[in-house]
Amino acid sequence: MENLESLKAELLTQVNTANNVKELEDIRVAILGKKGRITELMKTLGTLSQEEKIALGKGLNILKSEVEKALSDQKSTLETKELEAKLAAEKIDVTLPIRPENQGRLHPISQIYEEVVAIFGQMGFSVAEGPDIEDQFHNFNALNMPANHPARQMQDTFYIPNPDSDDFDDSFVVRTHTSPVQIRTMEKKELPIRIVAPGRTYRSDYDATHTPMFHQIEGLVIDKNITMAHLKGCLYDFIKAFFELDEIPVRYRPSFFPFTEPSAEMDIGCLKTKTELKIGAGTDWLEILGCGMVHPNVLRAGGINPDEYQGFAFGLGLDRLAMLKYGIPDLRTFFESDVRWLKHYGFLPLDMASMTGGLSNNGGAAR
Ligand code: DAH
Repeated sequence: MENLESLKAELLTQVNTANNVKELEDIRVAILGKKGRITELMKTLGTLSQEEKIALGKGLNILKSEVEKALSDQKSTLETKELEAKLAAEKIDVTLPIRPENQGRLHPISQIYEEVVAIFGQMGFSVAEGPDIEDQFHNFNALNMPANHPARQMQDTFYIPNPDSDDFDDSFVVRTHTSPVQIRTMEKKELPIRIVAPGRTYRSDYDATHTPMFHQIEGLVIDKNITMAHLKGCLYDFIKAFFELDEIPVRYRPSFFPFTEPSAEMDIGCLKTKTELKIGAGTDWLEILGCGMVHPNVLRAGGINPDEYQGFAFGLGLDRLAMLKYGIPDLRTFFESDVRWLKHYGFLPLDMASMTGGLSNNGGAAR
């Protein structure tokens, strides 16, 4: 028994003086492994008398569990120590200034988003949101496009099956435009309304100016006595602020959208040459957005009495705005995640777009 006491002291010293987890594992194997000290002693039990066997067996079992406990305690002590050392070695001082060459860039879409929201924000609009996956009521029906209405063909829609219904009319869509946010805002029953709704939209389309996922911003104003003059003034101010020009020729062409009556498209004056597009001068016109007075059926679908309230709405493509303002020729490059592209066309993230500080003086290809 004395024997076991000194063995115990020896083994525990080995365990407790191990310097790292690897060394501790070697010690464990040397004690408890197939040829370990305790294992070898266990093997001798068969050669002993019954009495000795009981005494030594009991002693060895106690010793074994004491050593096991010491091993596991020492292991967690060493692991904690190693983790602390690793953390200390990998410590980063987050208060250090960033190196300009390593600085990330804001994607032109994010930049345009900030710019447009800054402009409308200053005019008193707030930002509204809706889901990317819509039901057909909000994406179509409530916008004066009942089932089988020919206007639904204007947009190549991605449909999503409804697990609870086989009826095609119950299937969902990924929203084809941001216009459903008009309905979702009206449903909140807080009048008057003055919102913009930027976000992702989806259509089955793919070429240099179309991608299956793209971005729009919707605008909606509803109040008493709203007229087309409000719409024109608002959009004129917006477009001047957006292109950062004091004057810009605009014209409104009659158009058709099911959810507005009358409907119009706004063009801005520009000069198109073979190699260049100059906005704000020249004899050419560039279509920039769709707009109109909210159709009475849409107001009714949103629970608003069209005899009491009127409104105007508009919708425009954010990606297209980014292409025009920053001279980016191919929309598909926006979504290829090429860091070199982002370095060239991106914006410095901490210089926020604002009406007072400047919209876009912080980067892009114009830098
Ligand atoms: N939703 C239309 C589209 O995606 C754009 C649009 C046009 C929105 C006129 C409007 C509007 O709110 O009044 O093509």
